Amino acid sequence: MGIDKLGCYVPKTVLPLTTLAYARGVDPDKYTKGIGQVEMAIISPNEDVVTMAVEAAHTILDEADKASIDMVLFATETGLDYSKAAAIYALDGLGLPRSTRALELKQACYASTGAMFLAMDYVRAHPTKKVLVLSSDIAWYGFENAGEVTQGAGAIAMLISHNPRLGVISEGLKTVRNEKDFYRPLFSKVPLVDGKLSIECYTDMLKEVEDHQPHLYTCFHLPFANMAKKANSVLSYPMDEPHLNVVKELGSVVGNIYNGSLYLSLLSVLMHAQEDLTHHTLGMFAYGSGAMAEYFTITLQDNYMQGIHLDSLKSITEGRHRLSMDEYQTMMKHYESKEYASDIDLSDHVQPHQTFVLASISNGHRNYKKVK
Ligand code: HMG
Repeated sequence: MGIDKLGCYVPKTVLPLTTLAYARGVDPDKYTKGIGQVEMAIISPNEDVVTMAVEAAHTILDEADKASIDMVLFATETGLDYSKAAAIYALDGLGLPRSTRALELKQACYASTGAMFLAMDYVRAHPTKKVLVLSSDIAWYGFENAGEVTQGAGAIAMLISHNPRLGVISEGLKTVRNEKDFYRPLFSKVPLVDGKLSIECYTDMLKEVEDHQPHLYTCFHLPFANMAKKANSVLSYPMDEPHLNVVKELGSVVGNIYNGSLYLSLLSVLMHAQEDLTHHTLGMFAYGSGAMAEYFTITLQDNYMQGIHLDSLKSITEGRHRLSMDEYQTMMKHYESKEYASDIDLSDHVQPHQTFVLASISNGHRNYKKVK
């Protein structure tokens, strides 16, 4: 039981963190060396959590996969609607059968991992079926606050199956606490954050559930790249620096993608590890503020690289547009107004790499369009 295929999508527009640092009057070394982030992905006008999730799924699903999917679980803390699940839009965009069950799940950045474990229980009971777990988020903290440097946007698609090509997932060790570290009450457009408390909760909960075993790599939920350093330092068997750098490499140029972030760290290892990882067991730590955490392992299978689409992963960091500060501010203001718009036309903005876009919003309903 485990992950059959793993795909990812990240917007092609990024803000270099040196640009942000100069604009905010901060020493760039604080962001690039202290926080460890080089760039963060910024959502484009015709993208949202649905388009990113569909793009991520497109990179891995073939027609046979689509025919075997019985359920779509959409994990997000960037919900579009209090009632209608983003999974319904995504299912429609992917052309999945009408007999598919579609749901949205929430628990900060942990919902993706919770959904993955629920999906595995479902597949255990229905071994010929597969479950598509989509994780898609836009980390937006607003301008000029401590969280601004830890933003990002992106999606992960995971196909869960009985005989997984990529990796077998172990039972998890989980823990939950009622914490006030990061939350977004109904009155607020951005999260309310106690950054120091959030780091304390994260590392405390990791200590509580880690497996006290040495692993060549342990992947982490990475709200910013150097969270890996803090997490690694509390493990019973910390990784050496070259291995730690592999775990955080992709995250350092993407930023926080909330629910997908742990799986971005796994992709970073699959793409950048120097070793053949066949039959290796990697540690995995999921954390979602509020707070829920789970530690588990993934054991990579024979031909595990068949479970990812390497070319599309390599293209994540290719051909990106580096934004000026003015462009970034304009795009995030547009993002915020779009998220609360009842009617908007977005048909002018299609980029060459896009296959599925948000064309318009009419009376609050999102109208998506295949463009390839
Ligand atoms: P801050 O107060 O701006 O930064 O907040 P700082 O003063 O703690 O400095 C950061 C690091 O830079 C420190 O290193 C400094 O020493 C260093 P550390 O002590 O941590 O090793 N530094 C420098 N280094 C080189 N040259 C310099 C320099 N100056 C300072 N000149 C914080 C940082 C991450 C707290 C803030 O950005 C924040 O609140 N972010 C949002 C919350 C967050 O990401 N929390 C992480 C854990 S919670 C989580 O992961 C859940 C989450 O994903 C949400 C969810 O579950 O849905 C967020």
